[in-house]
Amino acid sequence: MALKELITKARTCRRFKGDITLSAETLASFIDCARLSASARNAQCLRYVTVTDAETRAAMNGLVVLGGALTPEQRATDAQRPGAYIVICGPDKMDDFATMDVGIAAQSINLAACEAGFRTCMIGAVKKDEAAALLGLPEELKVKLVLALGASDEEVRLVERREDGKLIYYRDANDVHCVPKITLEEAIILNK
Ligand SMILES: Cc1cc2nc3c(=O)[nH]c(=O)nc-3n(C[C@H](O)[C@H](O)[C@H](O)COP(=O)(O)O)c2cc1C
Repeated sequence: MALKELITKARTCRRFKGDITLSAETLASFIDCARLSASARNAQCLRYVTVTDAETRAAMNGLVVLGGALTPEQRATDAQRPGAYIVICGPDKMDDFATMDVGIAAQSINLAACEAGFRTCMIGAVKKDEAAALLGLPEELKVKLVLALGASDEEVRLVERREDGKLIYYRDANDVHCVPKITLEEAIILNK
């Protein structure tokens, strides 16, 4: 798949086919792409936890919010929970540069998962301390970002900025998840 096609396809997913799970080996292959990605000062301070077993996945489901801007009816049902989680961890104190590593790693995982036919949801809305306790993280590591992964069970479409000017995602009348993106003209502010 060409890179732009992959990036366009790799949309956030919040409703998954709940009966399709991912193995630790599959998750490791995605994390391998994160491991090889750019890192500020090449410090590589991030570490990863894979969550595949049913009990821990179920517990994680209760610690994250997928689709905070959606109504409860628009969110996943119990049959549409993620097939796995990857938890990105790092030291408590991370400066701006180190924090950028988290986003770069997350997108590498997102693209690798998409290429393999899966979708992800990057999740900042996670009860971080509770997740750390659940996973048994070593004291020196904190939860930075969680990725839910699985086979998509929803239709997603990129759309233009909403008529009211807002960029918040929404479900249309056909239950299609719409994600407004700014135009290239709006993105590039200067050509010198
Ligand atoms: C750092 C970060 C944190 C995010 N946290 C959440 C979250 O807690 N819950 C959620 O449902 N989506 C979360 N998202 C997903 C965004 O809502 C999503 O990227 C946005 O709606 C655009 O959709 P797209 O990824 O398909 O382009 C997060 C994305 C990023 C980059």
